[in-house]
Amino acid sequence: MTSPPTEHLQRLKDLPDYLSGLIIGQEHVIPKVVPTLQNGELGLADPGRPKGTFLFLGPTGVGKTELTLLMCGYLFGDAEKHCIRLDMSEYQNQESLQLLLGQNETSRGNMGRFYDRSEGRGFILFDEIEKAHPRVLDIFLQVLDAARITVANGETLNLSQFYIVATSNIGSEALMDLKNSSMATIERFIVDLAAAELRPEVLARFNVRCVFQRLGFKAQKQIAGIMLNKELKLLRKKGHDLTLGAGVVELIVAEGVEPRLGARRMRTTVESHCRHAVRDAMLNGRPTSGELISQNGRLVIHS
Ligand SMILES: Nc1ncnc2c1ncn2[C@@H]1O[C@H](COP(=O)(O)OP(=O)(O)OP(=O)(O)O)[C@@H](O)[C@H]1O
Ligand SMILES: [Mg+2]
Repeated sequence: MTSPPTEHLQRLKDLPDYLSGLIIGQEHVIPKVVPTLQNGELGLADPGRPKGTFLFLGPTGVGKTELTLLMCGYLFGDAEKHCIRLDMSEYQNQESLQLLLGQNETSRGNMGRFYDRSEGRGFILFDEIEKAHPRVLDIFLQVLDAARITVANGETLNLSQFYIVATSNIGSEALMDLKNSSMATIERFIVDLAAAELRPEVLARFNVRCVFQRLGFKAQKQIAGIMLNKELKLLRKKGHDLTLGAGVVELIVAEGVEPRLGARRMRTTVESHCRHAVRDAMLNGRPTSGELISQNGRLVIHS
């Protein structure tokens, strides 16, 4: 086999640093996913199976989807195009099989449509796997096992150029009561619950199982910092040159994070506060460049 080009190898070596820089507070997860991704890209995955299979367990809003999109974007370029997202809460009854695979000999369902968009490579993300109808779960097992799926028109789609990610929030309510336990105890608890709730043959088929943790305060602040800097970069491009001043990160964390929702609302909180500050300055004829500070529960610009 000819060796992949040097820059491709370098990118694969850089993958852990890239993911660690953007996924915060889940340091134990990155070393688990990286070897499988590198195997997949170096042609070391099992033939006739997906390039890699991941089960991401843990509470809502803590980085499971974010990590999947980052991995997909890094390896395939455009995460929107190459990540097929299937929310299993939309596939809970028998009829949903038709939605997924098509209903007659001329149709190919959502799967066919998404497959075409992805050009036959990327990631397939099955969210809330525990909600899938048993028949849909059968299809899922077939995907994990044989990397193929047959749609209604009889065509078999080859999924061997995909990584498969399944996520579940199983046990996350109970996790609230375990917040003082060690990581190892929490992991065992969640994996045992998942084993009891999902079919054992499903659980056994994943290359990698990761339990994501609730985000601590330090991680929340770090995520707020990343999102704020991204927003400031965008505003700078529009001519509003802002720096981060006192209390900004704390305000964003206080409003953007909830124990039961994780960092799910952080991005919209960052956007609405920063844009409010700029809008207010513009409408009132004040400078839109300067230092952002927190004042009476809002952000304002000090010039
Ligand atoms: N660990 C993290 N590092 C960086 N950003 C994060 C992290 N966790 C959450 N976020 C931010 O919060 C948003 C919501 O997180 P994400 O969509 O990954 O949640 P999830 O774990 O998939 O939850 P769900 O189980 O509800 O699907 C992300 O888009 C990201 O901006
Ligand atoms: Mg998600």
